[in-house]
Amino acid sequence: MNILAIESSCDETAVAVVRDGRTVLADCIASQVAIHKTYGGVVPEIASRKHIEAIYGLADQALETAGITRQDIDAVGVTYAPGLIGAVLVGVNFAKAAAMALQVPLIPVHHIRGHIAANYLAFPELEPPFLCLVVSGGHSMIVDVQDYTKLKILGSTRDDAAGECFDKVARVLGMPYPGGAALDKLARTGTEGKYPMPVAHVSGSDLDMSFSGLKTAALNLIHNAGQKGETLDVPDLCADFSKAVSDTLVPRTMAALEQTGYKKLAIAGGVAANSRIRGDFETACAKLGAELYLPPLKLCGDNGAMIGAQAYYEYLAGHTAGQDLNAYATMSIE
Ligand code: KG4
Ligand code: ZN
Repeated sequence: MNILAIESSCDETAVAVVRDGRTVLADCIASQVAIHKTYGGVVPEIASRKHIEAIYGLADQALETAGITRQDIDAVGVTYAPGLIGAVLVGVNFAKAAAMALQVPLIPVHHIRGHIAANYLAFPELEPPFLCLVVSGGHSMIVDVQDYTKLKILGSTRDDAAGECFDKVARVLGMPYPGGAALDKLARTGTEGKYPMPVAHVSGSDLDMSFSGLKTAALNLIHNAGQKGETLDVPDLCADFSKAVSDTLVPRTMAALEQTGYKKLAIAGGVAANSRIRGDFETACAKLGAELYLPPLKLCGDNGAMIGAQAYYEYLAGHTAGQDLNAYATMSIE
C-alpha cells in the first residue's frame, strides 16, 4: 500500500511516499528554518504562507523520486494535530483535495504518533509493545506504546518541553534558531562540573518532569555574568546544561521501563538527536539489558516519512476521515 504523506505542522513542509508503513520510497522536505532564523523563532503567519508555496511542488517531487504516478497512490495520510493551526490547515486541505481527486482514503495522523513511528522506518523488526520517550520542540513525554494505535502517557513535562528549553538557552547564548543542535555541538567540546544545574523533581509523580526551573537557572546565570562583566566558558556551560536535561529524562524513562517490565525502549523527536542524551541512554540500557532504538538523526526531526509510517497503521485500525476533517492546535496522543 503506497501512502502519500503530508506534514506541515511547524516550519518544515514535508511530503513522503511510504509503502506498507515501513519502506520509504521518497521523503522530500522544504525547510523554512533560514526564513524564521531572522526572527529568532517560528512566525506562524509566515510558516503558513511558505507551506502553501512549497507543498504542490514538493508532492510532485515526491512522486518523481518514488518513481510512481498519481494512480499508484492508495491513500493520503496527513498530520492534523497538534501544531501551529494555520500551518497544519495547509497540509490538511492539500491532503483532502488530493484524496478527493484520487478517490482514495484520507488518513489523519497525530504528529507525535508520527515521531514514534519514525522508529518503524529505522528498525523493521520493531513492533509494539515498547516504551518510547518523545522529546521535541513542544513535547516531552514517556509513552507506553501498547499497540500501533493504542498509546498511554506514563509521564510528561509539567511546563516547558526539553526542546523549548534547549532553544531558549541557545538563543540567549547568541546561537541562531533553532539552537538545540548548535548547543549540543558546543557541549561536546566542554567539560562538566563548572556550572552545576538543578534537576527538578515533581512531587508525587515520579515519571513527570519539569524544565522551567532549569531554564530559569541557566538564563539567570548567563544574565548575571553579563551584568558583572564576567566571561562564561560557553562550552562548559552547554555541557552542564545538557547533562541536566539528560539527568531529567534518562532516570525517569528507565524507571518507566522497569515499571512496565518492557525490554524495548525507543526515542523519538528532534531532541532525540542530542548526543549527550543518546549516549546516556546507551549506557543506561546496556546496564539494564534493554534493547535501545535510536533513530538516525534525519528521522528524529520533523519529516513526512514518519507520518506515512503511522498513517499505515491508523488505516489498518480503520481510522480514516471524510472531507469534513479539521485541523487542531492541540490534541492528546492517547
Ligand atoms: O521534533 P522536532 O523537529 O519538531 C517538533 O515537533 O517540535 O523538534 C525540534 C526541536 C528543536 O527544539 C531543536 O532545537 C531540537 O529539536 N533539537 C535538538 C537537537 N537537534 C534538534 N536539541 C538538542 N540537541 C540536538 N542535537
Ligand atoms: Zn515534530
